[in-house]
Amino acid sequence: MKKLAIQLIGLILIIGLSNCNKETPEIKLVPEPAEMIIGGGQYQISARSPIYVSDDDPELVAVAEYFIERVEAGSTIDLEIQLIDHDPGKGIYFHTDGPAFTDNPEGYEMEVFGSGITINAKTAKGVFYGVQSLLQLLPPEVYGNQKKLGSRDLRVPKVIIRDEPRYSYRGMHLDVGRHLFPVEFIKKYIDLIAMHKMNVFHWHLTEDQGWRIEIKKYPLLTEIGAWRETEDGGKYGGFYTQDQIREVVEYAKSRYVDVMPEIELPGHSVAALAAYPELSCTGGPFEVRKSWGVASDVYCAGKEVTFEFLEDVLDEVVGLFPFEYFHIGGDECPKVRWEVCADCQKRIRDENLKNEHELQSYFIGRIEKYLATKNKRLVGWDEILEGGLAANATVMSWRGESGGIAAAKQQHDVIMTPNSYLYFDYYQGNPLTEPKAIGGFLPMEKVYSYEPTPEVLSESEKKFILGAQGNVWTEYISTTEKVEYMALPRMSALSEVVWTPKELRDYEKFIYRLGAHYARLDAMQVNYRIPPPVVEEENYVFLREHELILHNAMDEADIRYTIDGTEPNENSLIYTDPLVFDKDAIVKARTVMKSGKSSVTVSINLDKQAPQPDLQ
Ligand code: ACM
Ligand code: ZN
Repeated sequence: MKKLAIQLIGLILIIGLSNCNKETPEIKLVPEPAEMIIGGGQYQISARSPIYVSDDDPELVAVAEYFIERVEAGSTIDLEIQLIDHDPGKGIYFHTDGPAFTDNPEGYEMEVFGSGITINAKTAKGVFYGVQSLLQLLPPEVYGNQKKLGSRDLRVPKVIIRDEPRYSYRGMHLDVGRHLFPVEFIKKYIDLIAMHKMNVFHWHLTEDQGWRIEIKKYPLLTEIGAWRETEDGGKYGGFYTQDQIREVVEYAKSRYVDVMPEIELPGHSVAALAAYPELSCTGGPFEVRKSWGVASDVYCAGKEVTFEFLEDVLDEVVGLFPFEYFHIGGDECPKVRWEVCADCQKRIRDENLKNEHELQSYFIGRIEKYLATKNKRLVGWDEILEGGLAANATVMSWRGESGGIAAAKQQHDVIMTPNSYLYFDYYQGNPLTEPKAIGGFLPMEKVYSYEPTPEVLSESEKKFILGAQGNVWTEYISTTEKVEYMALPRMSALSEVVWTPKELRDYEKFIYRLGAHYARLDAMQVNYRIPPPVVEEENYVFLREHELILHNAMDEADIRYTIDGTEPNENSLIYTDPLVFDKDAIVKARTVMKSGKSSVTVSINLDKQAPQPDLQ
């Protein structure tokens, strides 16, 4: 079956390429589907194409409405839904009879034939993923809101797609504690998650530097905890009201994205302590943290008032998020205050705990039990392994994979998000030319190479790896444009890691398909990173002559360059052939797209040395 899929893909590529000069557009989907069989020709969606929805599945109507909303935003065509109790054999037909090839509720089968399109899945969610593929078969303007497409533009190439995800958990995280982003942007982020067939938005809502969720019982959390002093004496901050949270969760639901809140404890909680210092070991006072890093002040694990407060907070938060998983943080909790706090030490004695690590386990275990009474499953960063894992905890492995491996060996569920592969706050290119990042180096190719299931696990242990997630921490990301720049296209690479069968993953082909994907992101007005031209070295020393070769990192863009030290722009020289220099030079080059958008600049120094006398 897998071999067949590979052969089919080869065939598809050949057919796809040979079709270039015909009307049929090439198929370039991200993430790459599990299986595709390409026919010749196409079906054209027109205002006369009804969307037939089987009348026994009301959820499907919402999926059809979602599709219609996209088509109507991107084109001048209006579509209509018709309920039906049988296969109409024409038009666009969504149903949930379920395809024969899989039992996966997220799988779907799509067939585009001469007189219609059928999407069949076991669930409306599966049909939704079929719709995502269908949107990618249409021109990229369908992702925009400018009605750019006319009545003859909605051509869909004939194809059969049988598709299902490799992992059930396919997440993206966003830290809104260090910097806050408006609700409209959160919705755009959710749209990006959905278009990549990913299904979890991990919303990191509380931090040392800001508490971002309204809690009615504790108004000071947002009156005080949501605001920090800036360097110039001003205030930075804000928060989401419960109504805004409900609005986001509802929006995400319509895109089959589950929203997982994170309420950090026991560490990363200075903003809460600034509002309610009695929850700390020392009693404070505290101010909402202004600098990044790890704070020593954390919730006191000895005082009952801490747990009363947290249970009240959780009561309100669980009511807002229907997802069964709930993230409680658990990372980077220094123990220095607990070591000298009479209340914490008493707790250690009373509970027969060995040390402060076991006190942390006690803390997490108590919270887990409380969450269980609300039918929520606890997720925590891998530090929750220290001192013993809570009974049913899911571990999010971030300090590499070792925490995830240890948890899987203890038969606990695992979400992989190792910083070395999936921290999208790391540099994605040369730190000298990239916008400031937290550090690290994580080019897209490395993301693409990630394998979430460690080989060291046994077959039964491997089943505990639910999937993977990209994390966007925002210490150095203060604008929505920069979130987009850091997240994309690395998130596109991750989407194939978590969706596409391992044996179909191929970086060269991914880059080729990404060419079409960039156009979709353009239509959505996403500020993704454009890769700069690739050079072997940025400093050359030569004697007589040097031939400089630049590699274009994007198919559908030019390299523009200057040799007079000025910044290249869309009017600068176009690079076509190697450049030959016989004296010192500084070459500055950029990738410039047809839209005029361009990459960061690479600077290449060419330094001609005087030859040694015996070489003259
Ligand atoms: C983390 O990056 N501190 C989970
Ligand atoms: Zn204490």
